[in-house]
Amino acid sequence: MSDRPRLLPLLGGNRHGSRDAMTCLYRCGNACDHPVPNSSDNPYFGDLVDAEVSRRGVVRAGAVGALVLGFGGTAAGALAGAAPAVAAPATPTAPGTDEAAAALARPGSGALTFKPIPPNKLDTLVVPNGYDHAVVIKWGDEVVPGAPAFDVRQQSAAAQAKQFGYNNDFVGVLPIDRKRALLVVNHEYTNEDLMFPGFTSQDALTVEQVRVAMAAHGMSVVELERVADTGQWRPVRRGRREYNRRVTALATKFELTGPAAGSAWLRTAADPKGRTVVGTLNNCAGGVTPWGTVLSGEENFNQYFVGGDGAPEELKPKLARYGIPTDVRYPSGSRKWDRADERFDLAKHPNEAHRFGWVVEIDPFDPQARPRKHTALGRVKHEGANVIVARSGHVVAYMGDDERFDYLYKFVSDKKFMPGNSWVARKHNLTLLESGTLYVATLTGDSPAGEIDGTGTLPADGGFAGRGRWIKLVSGNRSYVDGMTAADVLTFTRLAGDKVGATKMDRPEDVEPSLLTGKVYVALTNNSDRGKAGKAPADEANPRNANKHGQILELVEERGDHTGEAFTWSLPIVCGDPADASTYFAGYDKTKVSPISCPDNVAFDATGNLWISTDGNALGSNDGLFATAVEGPERGHLKQFLTVPLGAETCGPFVTRDNRSVFVAVQHPGEISGATVENPASTWPDGDFAKPGVVVTWRLDGGPVGS
Ligand code: FEO
Ligand code: CA
Ligand code: CA
Repeated sequence: MSDRPRLLPLLGGNRHGSRDAMTCLYRCGNACDHPVPNSSDNPYFGDLVDAEVSRRGVVRAGAVGALVLGFGGTAAGALAGAAPAVAAPATPTAPGTDEAAAALARPGSGALTFKPIPPNKLDTLVVPNGYDHAVVIKWGDEVVPGAPAFDVRQQSAAAQAKQFGYNNDFVGVLPIDRKRALLVVNHEYTNEDLMFPGFTSQDALTVEQVRVAMAAHGMSVVELERVADTGQWRPVRRGRREYNRRVTALATKFELTGPAAGSAWLRTAADPKGRTVVGTLNNCAGGVTPWGTVLSGEENFNQYFVGGDGAPEELKPKLARYGIPTDVRYPSGSRKWDRADERFDLAKHPNEAHRFGWVVEIDPFDPQARPRKHTALGRVKHEGANVIVARSGHVVAYMGDDERFDYLYKFVSDKKFMPGNSWVARKHNLTLLESGTLYVATLTGDSPAGEIDGTGTLPADGGFAGRGRWIKLVSGNRSYVDGMTAADVLTFTRLAGDKVGATKMDRPEDVEPSLLTGKVYVALTNNSDRGKAGKAPADEANPRNANKHGQILELVEERGDHTGEAFTWSLPIVCGDPADASTYFAGYDKTKVSPISCPDNVAFDATGNLWISTDGNALGSNDGLFATAVEGPERGHLKQFLTVPLGAETCGPFVTRDNRSVFVAVQHPGEISGATVENPASTWPDGDFAKPGVVVTWRLDGGPVGS
């Protein structure tokens, strides 16, 4: 652009916590303005507490000793077996480095010594002293070799389908060898105000521009190379780059697998067999599997559909439970994609909505392989899915349904993980998520309900903690939910959770097991409606009414058995300003802790530290990335590692297995009401208009990050 844009003054038009109204509109389809989709009358948590209190005295979360997990009999062995070690089939490589393996044997060995950065409102990415960072790839950059150069004034769907998409979220880095890796990224959603110069309204967009937006959704696979011997990585810019690939909402075909594939719910005029879906939508977080593939959660898919008012009456309650308005043709803020593809019109194609909301698996090492949507893992607003190999060899995927008052799930495979990089093992492991058992969580507290008053005040026993049960919903083709078939349960999993009385949580987002300890960490982002009239009140796992800042839940499977049905849980972190009495940092000295608000994504480094990124910091500063030990005396010593530019959310994050690089996705920079391409609220990263991008951070002296 010829004229350097002026920076937009901040409008401060935030309606939902600190999240800008523009983010609410584009990212979640104004979910906060719509009624909470869960209107079920599940027993409130408090009703169950008293029964549980009598069972107190059993093992509490946090008191469980070191857990030997997974394959190989030792933590290090387990991680080696469970790590994303599968390189390109033609290039089998040692999983991880010697130093990583050594570190893995010593959970908590990587003390976090970096000096935390202060909260700020800078339009730049800030990292601690002694670190550097670089943009790896950003919106519009070449992904498929030969992609046209990015021109914001001349966008086309064909070009965008070869270029890096918009609003990067999940980040996975899968090593090929010490110098090469595959970057796999989700592109969750688009913001047409910030993508198209001269934008006035969705109605005014051309159909080609709608198709550009569809092509900017999905995923990217990009081959990376290490820069010299540093922790920096950059895209390979020459050669075949055979793995480089775009997956889009526009054209990529997905295979449905599992018990609901082919069911009547999933059949449409274009796909009468109910087995092939075009596109993936609103891919939020995800996970790297032990067999070297990537899982990706289809989250707020509801917002892409119109015509809910014209859907069959009997279907309307099911659509409504997933947040699709059934009383209007065009919900507020609708992208009106039916203008480009009529399958998004539920009046004409009511089953099309059921073909989204799944966990997607993509094999980045096989560009020809069709990505799959696994119905066995259920259909919710999937934040993501993260897998651990249980001691028995079965694989277990932990999952959150990101909506106020929705539920926590896990899936246990029927088949067992086959270690190794052989063709036979790989082929076998690719089928693991196609059949198994799906569970939903119920949680009870171990303190009398009267001690949980909604303010966040700790109960008399000094911590929020309790027990939980995994309730079986479906196993293979067998449903355990009255009045619902297996296909019903898997397609309308939220309704199944309602029927069995699952526990209503404060927006369960990323759920990730530590491969070192087996403990599972859940990011519960916030819940503005907790305790409102007619809504579930605070309970011990969700202990604050009108919860603005969220909490981290630690879940410990009984006897370390990830396939079991009993667990204990505790809240190691109740987020907010440490000066706020309602916050808790595992009992650590709060004067030494960084303020944190709205935890969203979690990850682990090679020594087992927990890294947490935030979405919608309600304390008024930019979103960021934090790290804390979860074992030993430093448990709860949370420190801020980086902040992202104005208006942005910190996604990813991903710490490489050699512990030398931290990747984050800078999502929606400059997404502040009133901003446009010409009048941006952020000029990150190039100084002109805002572009989402993936950043790598590394230590200047080449040492392990964090420590
Ligand atoms: Fe896309 Fe739940 O954040
Ligand atoms: Ca998220
Ligand atoms: Ca994660």
